[in-house]
Amino acid sequence: MRIALAADHAAVSEKAAVAEDLRAAGHEVDDLGPFDERSVDYPDYAAPAARAVVAGPAERAVLLCGTGIGQCMAANKVPGARAAVLWNDASAEMSRRHNDANVACFGARLQPLPEILRLLRLWLDTPFDGGRHARRVAKIDGVPGASAGPRRDAGA
Ligand code: RB5
Repeated sequence: MRIALAADHAAVSEKAAVAEDLRAAGHEVDDLGPFDERSVDYPDYAAPAARAVVAGPAERAVLLCGTGIGQCMAANKVPGARAAVLWNDASAEMSRRHNDANVACFGARLQPLPEILRLLRLWLDTPFDGGRHARRVAKIDGVPGASAGPRRDAGA
């Protein structure tokens, strides 16, 4: 799977570890930065990663910051992005099964790295259930003010 990856200054080393783990598992990783710990603004990294999922070439994105919350908020401003903070097994699994989440967010200041890596693997391995959930997910894009534009996975 091709995965866009980004962080902010709070999670640079964790991002590198995530990239290594994903590549070792056979994924193609587009690391969108940052590459040092100088202070940056997380929306500047969330937006390109989310756009890479909605418009291509990535199938999923992984975002890290101190809490995961800011990256998640910023990513969800990109129409068609469905970002979720994954903080335990149920949130990782259900964000895929019911919400077809395409962006995973983690808080490097709140979650130990091994737990981030474990939850990310669970999230990547969990399929979308479809069915009634597809109707609900489609309605996310229909929320007034939201416009997904062309979906990469339309018809899939
Ligand atoms: C940066 O200090 C911090 O605010 C950021 O990493 C993130 O936690 C925001 O949600």
